[in-house]
Amino acid sequence: MTGYRHTIIVYLALSCLTNVLCELNLSEDEPCITNGLNGTCVGIFRCDSAALVYLYANAGYDVVEYNLPELPDICSYKDNEPVVCCTDCGVTKDEYFRDYGVGPLGVLGKKDGSIALSKCFEYFGKLPYPCRGSANFGIKKLWKENKKCHEINYSNALAVGGRDAQRWEFPHVALLGYGDDVESAQWLCGGSVISERFILTAAHCTSTRALGNITFAALGLLKRTDPKKYWKIHKIKSIIIHPEYKAPSKYHDIALLETETEINFGKDLLPACLDINTEFKDGVEASGWGRLGHRQDLADTLQVVYLEEYNKTECAAIYQPHRHLKNGYDHEKQMCFGSHREVIDTCEGDSGGPLQTNKFKCQYSIAGVTSYGKNCGILGSAGVYTRVSYYVPWIESVVWPEETEAKRKKDNLWLDEWLVIRSDVANNGGNFGPAVAQRERPGPDRLRHHEQTADEDRERGAG
Ligand SMILES: *[C@@H]1O[C@H](CO)[C@@H](O)[C@H](O)[C@H]1NC(C)=O
Ligand SMILES: *[C@@H]1O[C@H](CO)[C@@H](O)[C@H](O)[C@H]1NC(C)=O
Ligand SMILES: *[C@@H]1O[C@H](CO)[C@@H](O)[C@H](O)[C@H]1NC(C)=O
Ligand SMILES: *[C@@H]1O[C@H](CO)[C@@H](O)[C@H](O)[C@H]1NC(C)=O
Ligand SMILES: *[C@@H]1O[C@H](CO)[C@@H](O)[C@H](O)[C@H]1NC(C)=O
Repeated sequence: MTGYRHTIIVYLALSCLTNVLCELNLSEDEPCITNGLNGTCVGIFRCDSAALVYLYANAGYDVVEYNLPELPDICSYKDNEPVVCCTDCGVTKDEYFRDYGVGPLGVLGKKDGSIALSKCFEYFGKLPYPCRGSANFGIKKLWKENKKCHEINYSNALAVGGRDAQRWEFPHVALLGYGDDVESAQWLCGGSVISERFILTAAHCTSTRALGNITFAALGLLKRTDPKKYWKIHKIKSIIIHPEYKAPSKYHDIALLETETEINFGKDLLPACLDINTEFKDGVEASGWGRLGHRQDLADTLQVVYLEEYNKTECAAIYQPHRHLKNGYDHEKQMCFGSHREVIDTCEGDSGGPLQTNKFKCQYSIAGVTSYGKNCGILGSAGVYTRVSYYVPWIESVVWPEETEAKRKKDNLWLDEWLVIRSDVANNGGNFGPAVAQRERPGPDRLRHHEQTADEDRERGAG
């Protein structure tokens, strides 16, 4: 923690060296003069204009390039944070931006206590391709002569089209294998990389009667037929199934796979965020290597389909109570997506794979986990997906246990960690090494088995 605070001081101390009027040696709430203007010494987060510049500057945005106002003079330090000579109008005790962070495309987001969101920002800072360039925000200080203070004009419009399409359009997608060795393993489910150690998938994918537990995850690949030597294969160390999942029931169909070795991120291999939204009016994309249609072959190249959100009434009508879905469709924990106009769906083999949004263009967010459906590819039908937002607290507790613990203690761990990562990235241009191939045991018999069987809904993968 102290190390993190250090970063803050380093940044401001550097700006100080180039500034003759550096430290005014005044304590909080004392009057001060900066650039000939009267101000008040306040903690940096009490001074909105300074807090904003500080957040963006520490997120790697160049003060000159983005035409950001200069940081004000520093009065002193308090609790290792700068106290600045603030000329903003209406300075209060509030620390409005204390809980904010800078995310994709310069979007300022409230941390909201969500570890998943803060991790999303953190991983964003590690993207090996530029995304910051299209940031569309502005911070202006406007002098109000009558009030003798600065009003702040902060604007942030979400830019569209952050980056060109890459060969690796879905760098978080995992193909999951079952069996004792890589060569003979069967690759029957999908998943999503969400951290250096964890892959999110469906609970029903974690084992099959015929092949046992999931043993491998292949990452950063595009085609099943790519030679295995190019696959980044990680051995699965442990399988964490949601505690309330009781096969063959369809509820709580979500699980986490911990890899034996750390996943090294790179251009073709990056974690996705967890989407904490509960509505997806703009639709989502599903991707996977599942069957191309009922009774058709498994896809070789990763397939992507655009799907529309079905509302609660529609989903409940399609998925009525039956023995594996005792209370029918559960809108709080599940969601269903499909197409009202075209024959588009996820299919067998897509199970466990992501339903994702791409609001920021640079980085995906996982909205759902492909769970099960009726026969795929029937007009007006829709598949069922585990609703990720509902499970975020559980995922956080497994994937980021320390942060979850720290959050409980109301620590300010997150911002600090993020600042250090940003400064590390700025200092050494990121840290993307090659992945290490690993092996272990193999897996399942069917993919989201969507196969036929009239009245019975089938899972969309191993099982
Ligand atoms: C800062 O102010 C305090 C008292 O207000 C004084 O004792 C101290 O010497 C000052 N330090 C510097 C570096 O001017
Ligand atoms: C700053 O405040 C002092 C005392 O209130 C006043 O005399 C002075 O004119 C002010 N300076 C400016 C630039 O407003
Ligand atoms: C604030 O900035 C925006 C965008 O630059 C501009 O459209 C708007 O007029 C500004 N508001 C004021 C009060 O200057
Ligand atoms: C499969 O994984 C579960 C954990 O989900 C574990 O309890 C079980 O022992 C594993 N089975 C085998 C055969 O390794
Ligand atoms: C759900 O969608 C159906 C069909 O599009 C529509 O008729 C119905 O009004 C919707 N219900 C709600 C609650 O939005």
